[in-house]
Amino acid sequence: MPISLKSPSEQDAMRRACRLTAETLNMVGQAVQPGVTTGELNDLCHDYIAKQGARPAPLHYRGFPKSICTSVNQVVCHGIPGPKKLKSGDIVNIDVTVVLDGWHGDASRMYFVGEPSILAKRLVETTRIALFLGIQAVAPGRHLGDIGSVIEYYANENGVSVVREYCGHGIGHTFHEDPQVLHYGSPDTGIELVPGMVFTIEPMLNAGKRFVKTLPDGWTVVTRDHSLSAQWEHTILVTEAGHEILTWSDYEQAILGLPDCSDHAIRLLHSNI
Ligand code: MF3
Ligand code: CO
Ligand code: CO
Repeated sequence: MPISLKSPSEQDAMRRACRLTAETLNMVGQAVQPGVTTGELNDLCHDYIAKQGARPAPLHYRGFPKSICTSVNQVVCHGIPGPKKLKSGDIVNIDVTVVLDGWHGDASRMYFVGEPSILAKRLVETTRIALFLGIQAVAPGRHLGDIGSVIEYYANENGVSVVREYCGHGIGHTFHEDPQVLHYGSPDTGIELVPGMVFTIEPMLNAGKRFVKTLPDGWTVVTRDHSLSAQWEHTILVTEAGHEILTWSDYEQAILGLPDCSDHAIRLLHSNI
């Protein structure tokens, strides 16, 4: 399928879907604490999304049984919410995709349950910076490979690995559209970015090796070596000026802010693309 370019009014519709996605993540974050089950987090998100006249895209998507994905510790992605209680020291990715007026918004964040280990904190922060470095590579005239290359470079620099089996994706009327947005690659390769394109960037980084396997439930993806895994995701619009993070929110700005992407290696890297 060709890559769809979103018109100004379609961009507005996507802004609305993406805003609801961010607001859902803002809301559910306040419920993440020791003792809560991932099933309870699922129900909170489901009800919140439904109340806004939207629907959670994962529910029944290719047979997925729940409304959000909750991926704890060594789970890389597509964790199925259930009766498992979160405990202090866990890290959890919550991935929310909504459909509002026919348009999708998709984002995920990492949350700490109680106090994280130093390793967990470092992996989570490294992954968030990797996402934002990828986002900073988005502008007209840049290439898809620029995004993957900065993410891969930064992960390597920090001694963590990039999962290759799953990637970011175009998004709009459908959940997953072209193009595929790899989180590894080479600068100046792949298609050229054009204003009106909308896609996600959603790197999964492992503290150990990059290899993954899917559990017998057919969904839950875990690291083969049982190492911790982290993921952050935003939906990005390519604009004339560069990009707009459609799933950004004032709340994320206030609580997390933009990560510090300013160290020397990164500036060097950016001068190269
Ligand atoms: N939200 C995920 C993504 O970022 C996809 C989840 S598919 C599901 O692309 F079926 F597991 F929900
Ligand atoms: Co996605
Ligand atoms: Co997602």
